[in-house]
Amino acid sequence: MTDLPEIHGARACVFDAYGTLFDVHSAVGAMKAEIGPQADRLSQLWRQKQLEYTWLRSLMRAHRDFWSLTGDGLDFAMEATGLGDRPELRERLMDLYLRLDCYPEAPATLDRLRASGMATAILSNGAPAMLESAVTHAGLADRLDPILSVEDIGIFKPDPRTYQLACDRLGLAADAVCFLSSNAWDVAGAAHFGFQVVWINRFGLPRERLPGTPRAVIERLDELPALVGA
Ligand code: LAC
Repeated sequence: MTDLPEIHGARACVFDAYGTLFDVHSAVGAMKAEIGPQADRLSQLWRQKQLEYTWLRSLMRAHRDFWSLTGDGLDFAMEATGLGDRPELRERLMDLYLRLDCYPEAPATLDRLRASGMATAILSNGAPAMLESAVTHAGLADRLDPILSVEDIGIFKPDPRTYQLACDRLGLAADAVCFLSSNAWDVAGAAHFGFQVVWINRFGLPRERLPGTPRAVIERLDELPALVGA
């Protein structure tokens, strides 16, 4: 008797983008030598502020798109790390954010899922142009369809309306969607909404103390096909 997969009846695998398919630290990583000892702190703070601004602006009802908030987060992080007087560095880092590396196991994982008949899509906070750029640069354009941006509704995750957008566009009920994220807060939001969720816990982090429990926790994307029976 074989074990049943952890995910039952999913028709689509819907991926978060930043941190899940794309390595958000690869932008600073490409310029580590030029940035010096503050590089890791800069990258962590950049990501932290970018996300905080999505939640805070949602509460303030003062929405701006994720590209703007990526710039705002970088400005904060550069000033906090003593790099605020380097506009050329800012420009290069923003440009690199449009060409982030994908995790190495992503292309083959997506191919295997699609070969089994599973739909594969993105649902991201990212603005459409930045998502299109990242997907194209990483060679994933033929492997993900549709690429959904929360910009279509002007509110960020984990607002339930963002997850509903995927159901509406895919024509699927929530429990027919397997949602993947490495961001534990996104995992909580998506599971609370009703998706079957897999947490890609790349960095061995504790779970968030929030409602919404993932069906499974894995460390790399290539562990996913076995979970969904692909
Ligand atoms: C995204 C962010 C949350 O891609 O990583 O939606």
